[in-house]
Amino acid sequence: MENINKLENIKRPWVVAHRGYSARFPENTASAFDAAISAGADMIELDVCITKDRVPVVIHDQTLERTTDGAGMVSELNLSELKKLDAGSWFSPEFKGESIPTLEEILLQIRGKISVNIEIKPETYELAGPPDAIEKKICIMVEKFGLKESVLISSFEHSFFPKIKFWHKKDKVKNSLRIAPLHEKEVSEENALNLCKETDAYSFHHDEKFLTPSLIEILKKNQFRTIAYTINNENRIEELTQWGVTGIITDDPEIMWKVLRKLKSFE
Ligand code: G3P
Ligand code: MG
Repeated sequence: MENINKLENIKRPWVVAHRGYSARFPENTASAFDAAISAGADMIELDVCITKDRVPVVIHDQTLERTTDGAGMVSELNLSELKKLDAGSWFSPEFKGESIPTLEEILLQIRGKISVNIEIKPETYELAGPPDAIEKKICIMVEKFGLKESVLISSFEHSFFPKIKFWHKKDKVKNSLRIAPLHEKEVSEENALNLCKETDAYSFHHDEKFLTPSLIEILKKNQFRTIAYTINNENRIEELTQWGVTGIITDDPEIMWKVLRKLKSFE
């Protein structure tokens, strides 16, 4: 389902495919996102960095070594150079020839099929906010493709959020994009709530290790959704489903569906 409004009516946690179906396909590639759609995920999660010639590309690390046959920084190569790299063989020889996708390519690929959590990597943040800043490019792209109701933007760098809200006001867009602060350390309930209020968050994306039923409850009472990352363990998926999280970010949407079926939590 591509419209996030519609996902809001679902009682079970949303199945959010972390970097696509990354348990079985090379993360953040076209095939990982297609596989996530086929596996019945509700949303894909992807990571965005920027090239030297200022094109948003879908890759997790700032460096190329782990997930490609290239070397060095993503931000120091032009798109044409990055496109020559193999982003599939590191995972398995059967994915040889998979390339680093641009964000635009993936948005076109998934449009009308599934919603998307775009995570902007903190290293791409530019305090000066140049006219071609990554957050502005993303806002323009989302508008251009009519994807506002399908997109949720998250980041560990919370300074992106006022800028995203600003670009929308400036462009006279009625409602801003949905945004979600990511958080990776233990946080008090009060601080989590304040962060959600200050950033005008749609959802709070927290490392699953630090979630508690009462934090989820307090956020829910204040109209904030909680999305947990990253869980592949069946017992933990079951526990967080029972705690009432809005979504679970997982490398393996099929494992999550297995748990939801067992719990008879289909809708
Ligand atoms: O968006 C959740 C999760 O992806 C955040 O951490 O490092 O996997 O991008 P990371
Ligand atoms: Mg991520």
